[in-house]
Amino acid sequence: MPVSGLDHAWVAQTGHAAKTSGSVREGVSTVGRMEIRPLDREDPTELARYHAISVAAERFERPYAATWGLREMTVELTEDDPMERKDAVVAVDADTVVGAGIAWSSLTDNLHLSWLMPWVEPDRRRRGIGSAVLAELVALCRADRRTDLVMETSYPFERREDHPYRRFAEKNGFQLANTEIGRVRDLPVEDVDLDALVEEAAPHHAGYRVETFEDPLPDELLPSFCAAHNRLAVDAPGGDLTFEQEALTPELVRVHEDQRRRQGRRKITTVAMTEAGEVVGYNDLVVPDEDLPNVWQWGTLVVPAHRGHRLGLAMKARGLKELQGRVGPERTRVLTCNAEQNAPMVSINVRLGFRPVEVTPAFLLRVP
Ligand SMILES: CC(C)(COP(=O)(O)OP(=O)(O)OC[C@H]1O[C@@H](n2cnc3c(N)ncnc32)[C@H](O)[C@@H]1OP(=O)(O)O)[C@@H](O)C(=O)NCCC(=O)NCCS
Repeated sequence: MPVSGLDHAWVAQTGHAAKTSGSVREGVSTVGRMEIRPLDREDPTELARYHAISVAAERFERPYAATWGLREMTVELTEDDPMERKDAVVAVDADTVVGAGIAWSSLTDNLHLSWLMPWVEPDRRRRGIGSAVLAELVALCRADRRTDLVMETSYPFERREDHPYRRFAEKNGFQLANTEIGRVRDLPVEDVDLDALVEEAAPHHAGYRVETFEDPLPDELLPSFCAAHNRLAVDAPGGDLTFEQEALTPELVRVHEDQRRRQGRRKITTVAMTEAGEVVGYNDLVVPDEDLPNVWQWGTLVVPAHRGHRLGLAMKARGLKELQGRVGPERTRVLTCNAEQNAPMVSINVRLGFRPVEVTPAFLLRVP
């Protein structure tokens, strides 16, 4: 999944097409003089150009954008992932790559759904490149029988009704389906007493343990961790988006840990456990290699039967404390994103000192 939504994020958490066995559509399309074709994943120059376009597009007028480094993206685009197909395309005009895009499609669950992202550099916009890239991504997903095509983006609050990205989405037939709010917590945490929050929460969750691990997670936690993780898509408010439970397994956790190692990412996971050692909640913080000064908040969830014990607050406060002890002063902010109607999660984030910085809408195109 894309990084912009952080846990879909962003995002989780991509490049099949003509040269790969997983491709669903092998064509090259032309729009005017432009050719839209699969990214040549074996060409490091083209990969670097693809990466540069994505970063320029994401960072334009967005001081808090989360972006991937070249190494992270190369691993994402060149390695097969048993859980996700990734269709990466480029728009080429007279031998110059002028646009880029990707569709992420889960292979193990949510087979109705794909996440789409077109990117165009600021000085090449408004020439039809974005629409041409998007049309190719839509065609790829339709050929794969995906019916719910989702495009997530971010922009300032004051333009939420008429920002160019919203106009672009609507012009291409997508409709607003959910709205998340991007928030930032500045590091180091000095204005909030994290120890006091941990102590405040503790009497409410006697009988539970809260512990932090950095990859790899211990074997014995994996089955219950996966069960908790797989609920997130359905438990988090999604507006008009429809999700099924995900299908993460202990084996796939190990695959992703290996992949993160090669990407230079660190994942710091704080879990809440019963006395018997069953994971009933988790909080993931990811320290990306190149996206300074950012740390990405990925998922946070407490399993419904165990809610009401302040485990959410306890895990997040503990996670931030652990983070501060494990990263250097170059990390000066944590980025997170929550549906605006997700009152419980938002109230915890507000207590931890996260401040709103932008709106992150999701647009949906439902195809028959
Ligand atoms: C969104 C993005 C891909 C658009 O790329 P683009 O090449 O400029 O898009 P197009 O030229 O195909 O624009 C198609 C239509 O979108 C609308 N649109 C795009 N930019 C607009 C702007 N600045 N103001 C008003 N409408 C705009 C217009 O209706 C336009 O058609 P028109 O030019 O005939 O009026 C590009 O701005 C981008 O990379 N944004 C950052 C990445 C992102 O968030 N992508 C997902 C967006 S939902």
